[in-house]
Amino acid sequence: MISDWVTVADAEREGLEKLEQGPQDYFAGGAGDELTLRENVAAWGHWRLRPRVLNDVREVSTAAEVLGKPVELPVLVAPVAYQRMAHPEGERGMAAGAAAAGTVMCLSTLSTTRPAEVAGAAPDGRRWFQLYAFKDAAVTRALMEEAIDAGFEAVVVTADAPPGGNRERDRRNRFTLPQDLGTPSLSAAVGGETALTIEETFALMNHALTWADVEDLASECSVPVLVKGVLTAEDAELALEHGAAGVVVSNHGGRQLDRSLATADALPEIAGALEGRAALLVAGGIRRGIDVATALALGADAVLVGRPALWGLAAAGSEGVARVLGLLREELELTLALCGCTGPSQLSRAHVRRAPAASVYSV
Ligand SMILES: Cc1cc2nc3c(=O)[nH]c(=O)nc-3n(C[C@H](O)[C@H](O)[C@H](O)COP(=O)(O)O)c2cc1C
Repeated sequence: MISDWVTVADAEREGLEKLEQGPQDYFAGGAGDELTLRENVAAWGHWRLRPRVLNDVREVSTAAEVLGKPVELPVLVAPVAYQRMAHPEGERGMAAGAAAAGTVMCLSTLSTTRPAEVAGAAPDGRRWFQLYAFKDAAVTRALMEEAIDAGFEAVVVTADAPPGGNRERDRRNRFTLPQDLGTPSLSAAVGGETALTIEETFALMNHALTWADVEDLASECSVPVLVKGVLTAEDAELALEHGAAGVVVSNHGGRQLDRSLATADALPEIAGALEGRAALLVAGGIRRGIDVATALALGADAVLVGRPALWGLAAAGSEGVARVLGLLREELELTLALCGCTGPSQLSRAHVRRAPAASVYSV
């Protein structure tokens, strides 16, 4: 029962229970030994808060701005592929849950629902579109235009795939998508009759993408373009030089390059390089309101959650998504108050420091 959930971990338990082994491992798993998958979560726990006391915290708000527009909660929903495999409501439920929580949903290119239908499920919600670039530039353009026509406000270009990572759980399970599950916009763009497998989809993607392509996209596109999958200050700088409106610090939820930096460890150098010149978001391992506060204190404008929202969806459709985001909101609100802040913008680098020593209490 979602009303019994006290933390995101409760949603995880209930969401995973609803899924069969193949989808469960597809959603929960990572690449290789899954070190980065685990470290994404643990690394937030390597920071400690420096709370300030005796500030008036009767009125605390989680409201923030992302790309110059308001959100009620600086926790956005990350792009996650194939959401109808988690719950029949799929991307429509995810959009409705995000809208109910007053935040942005980022739709994956590998959506099992077309952008206009997703928009229709939450007309008042804010939406961004995650873009994979395809070898056939006309396919890429068609996908992007379909989303922009449906009111999606930003395009998030994923840079850390293809190729797809080494997902050993899926290989062990000989995982394939359910027969009736397709990616209708992609199929329409490539002109295919049958649903594409995951391998066919990755094979169609552009493995030769460069910063010059990002620059072309950004100059052609009528909405801001963000680059997702950045883990270094060097690449964050290049993203800005090539016209991006911001970056998403991400390692694809540990699903691509195992042993790549945890996002909590990559964020500080990127925040230092950008110095507030562009939107800065971070995704990976956020499971607590305290993780959100730590990310904001380290310089992020907002965070994105992938699996937590997906577990909410799997367990209880749109209501489960809204509940997960509501739990994070409650935790963030309390963390802000206990840090002496009345809103996210008051969190600063001075509110965090590395844990004094390797702590036995790490998460
Ligand atoms: C099952 C699954 C599918 C994903 N699909 C995509 C995708 O289609 N495009 C993309 O850019 N990122 C994708 N991601 C990565 C997420 O956008 C996000 O970076 C990651 O889930 C954040 O980590 P978290 O799950 O720990 O919150 C996916 C992640 C998961 C778990």
